[in-house]
Amino acid sequence: MNINSAIIQGEKVLKDNFIDNAHLDSEILMAKAIDKDRKYILLNSNRNINTKDLNSFQKLIKKRSLGKPVAYLTNKKFFWNSEFIVSKETLIPRPDTELVIEQVLKLTTHKKKLNILEIGIGSGCILLSILRERKNFYGTGIDISKSCLNISKLNAIKLKVSSKLKLYKSNVDKFTLGKYDLIISNPPYIKNYKLKYLEKDVAEFEPKLALDGGIDGLSEIRKVVKKSSELIKKSGKFVLEIGFDQKNKVTNLLKEEGFYINSINKDLANKDRCIVCTKI
Ligand SMILES: C[S@@+](CC[C@H](N)C(=O)[O-])C[C@H]1O[C@@H](n2cnc3c(N)ncnc32)[C@H](O)[C@@H]1O
Repeated sequence: MNINSAIIQGEKVLKDNFIDNAHLDSEILMAKAIDKDRKYILLNSNRNINTKDLNSFQKLIKKRSLGKPVAYLTNKKFFWNSEFIVSKETLIPRPDTELVIEQVLKLTTHKKKLNILEIGIGSGCILLSILRERKNFYGTGIDISKSCLNISKLNAIKLKVSSKLKLYKSNVDKFTLGKYDLIISNPPYIKNYKLKYLEKDVAEFEPKLALDGGIDGLSEIRKVVKKSSELIKKSGKFVLEIGFDQKNKVTNLLKEEGFYINSINKDLANKDRCIVCTKI
């Protein structure tokens, strides 16, 4: 069988299992199975595929048809300007989260040197993207998950920013090190009774630790806001991703902790997603 026929067969299996973007997914999984990039596939679609590669392709298609996200099957995800390594313990970087980066870059156009803290670094997609964009910025990332820190470290090495990054395994509650010019966070913010109603790919495969915001969706945000108010320098900026329906409650929490709200920014679906504020 040639590469193209196998991709079409894979696409059919995915469509039969109601997977969106079946053709694209099948192509990406073929690239993974034969260890080439998609460009190779497009240029060599008539080449025959050997039995071993065909078997591994069909296994990947089977897993995808059960809902496992492509990023967890390939262990990579493109975000901002770079490809990030991901594992089943890290949240898959979301396009909406690029809003945090846009805001940070806007805020720091004229800044030469800056100390940044990210609370809940996950794969490192936010902080490492910023460190790549701004040569003299330094980053500290914390996460409660050791596996996330391991992946962040690998990504920092891959993106050549590891000399500007410190990582600590810590619950946000317990972290007391340093004072920062800028704090960023995309904390877990889904109400826990809603977790099971998320899309199957998310609900069954993404880490609960990255999603679960407790009974009201705000349990981690509360901790992050409180801790940020302690660790931020006076006049420092705080950029926080929130759930689309959390604007009012979170702005109140921020005001109670001495933050002035600069802006509330909308995501690609026009939903409130990112708050920029200043410690007064
Ligand atoms: C929504 S994910 C964000 C990951 C990454 N920053 C991104 O935007 O893709 C939240 C991260 O916070 C971490 N986390 C959850 N609770 C935490 C806590 N109490 N203290 C520190 N980190 C926590 C999770 O392990 C997860 O990596």
